Amino acid sequence: MVEAKVAGKVADDVHALTTPQGGGREPATQPVQENTGRAGIAPVAAQAARPREAVPSSPAPVEQPFENGHGEPVVSPHPYAAQMRERRLAIEAQGRARRDTLLYLNGVTKSFDGFKAINNLSLVIEKGEMRAIIGPNGAGKTTMMDIITGKTRPDKGEVFFGGDVDLTRHDEAAIASMGIGRKFQKPTVFESHTVEDNIRLSLSGPRSVLEALVHRKDEAERQRIEAILETTRLTEKRETFAANLSHGQKQWLEIGMLLAQDPELLLVDEPVAGMTDAETEQTARLLRDIARTRSVVVVEHDMHFVRALGVKVTCLHEGSVLSEGTLDKVSADPKVIEVYLGR
Ligand SMILES: Nc1ncnc2c1ncn2[C@@H]1O[C@H](COP(=O)(O)OP(=O)(O)O)[C@@H](O)[C@H]1O
Ligand SMILES: [Mg+2]
Repeated sequence: MVEAKVAGKVADDVHALTTPQGGGREPATQPVQENTGRAGIAPVAAQAARPREAVPSSPAPVEQPFENGHGEPVVSPHPYAAQMRERRLAIEAQGRARRDTLLYLNGVTKSFDGFKAINNLSLVIEKGEMRAIIGPNGAGKTTMMDIITGKTRPDKGEVFFGGDVDLTRHDEAAIASMGIGRKFQKPTVFESHTVEDNIRLSLSGPRSVLEALVHRKDEAERQRIEAILETTRLTEKRETFAANLSHGQKQWLEIGMLLAQDPELLLVDEPVAGMTDAETEQTARLLRDIARTRSVVVVEHDMHFVRALGVKVTCLHEGSVLSEGTLDKVSADPKVIEVYLGR
C-alpha cells in the first residue's frame, strides 16, 4: 500500500517533470541527479526518466523539459503534483462516503431576499437512522425540509438521496414518489372518512399488478392496513371518522397515511406540538417503531420528546449545524446554551 503510494507519487512527479508545463531553470545536472535518485525507489520512475539520461552531455535537451512553455521558472512542481493527487483522492473518498448514505447535504445555501435561511449546511443521514433536529425558531429547520422535498430549490450545494439521486434536479411529486414522505406541522386528513379508509386511500403499490390478482390484492392490502393501524396505535379507532379524533390521533393518522406510501425516509416537522404528555410519549414510541424499518428525520422543540427518542441530535442555528451528537452532549454545548438562552 505504502509502496504503491510512493510509486504513484513518483510517477506523478515524473509526469510533471516530463510534461512541457513542468520544471524550472535549474542547473542542467541537478534534476537529472534527482531523477536518478528517485529512480532507485520505483522502476516506473526509472523508465520514465531514461530518455533524459540518454543525453546528459547535451545541455539543451535536458533543460528543455523544465521550461513551463512561457519561459517562466518553476522552482519545483513536486508539491503541486502531490497536492493534486491528494485532492483527487479526497474527492474520491467523499464520493464513496456519499454513496453509503441515505441523505447527503453538502454546503447547501438558500437565501430569501438576501437573508440566508440556510447557510452552507452539511448533514448526513445514514440508511435506517433516526435523527432529531433541534434549534431555535428561524434556524432553518423547515426550510431544510423544503429543500429535501423539492419545495424549495437551494442556491448552492449538493442534496443527494440514496447515494446518487440529485434531489435538486427533481420536483416535489417526483421526490415523493422516490420514497421521501413528509409530514407537515398541521395534520391533513380526510375528516369525513374513517381512520381505516384514510389509510386505504393512501396505500401505494403496484396497483395494476395487484388488481389482476384480486384476492391477493385484498389480502395484501388488509395486512398492510392492519400493520399501519397497529403502528399508529389506531386499531381501536379504525371505524371512527377522522373528524372525531383527538389532535394527537390525527397526527398519528397522518403518519399512518405516509407509511401507506412506504417511504424509505420520513420527514416529520414538530409532530408533538399541541399534544398531551401521554400523546407525546406515545408518539416517541411510535416513531421508534417506524425507525426500525426506515429512516426518520424529526424536527422538534420538545426536549422531553427528543430525549425519549434516544437518537443522535443535530442543532441548527442560522441555517448551519451548530452542534451534533447525543442530546446530553448537544445540550451541554456552550454554543447551544447561548443560542437558546440568548433568544
Ligand atoms: N419563503 C420564504 N420567504 C422568505 N423568508 C423565508 C421563507 N421561508 C423561510 N424564511 C425565513 O427563513 C428563516 C428560517 O425559517 P424556517 O426554516 O421556517 O425556520 P425554523 O423551521 O427553524 O423555525 C426564517 O427567518 C424565515 O422567516
Ligand atoms: Mg419550522
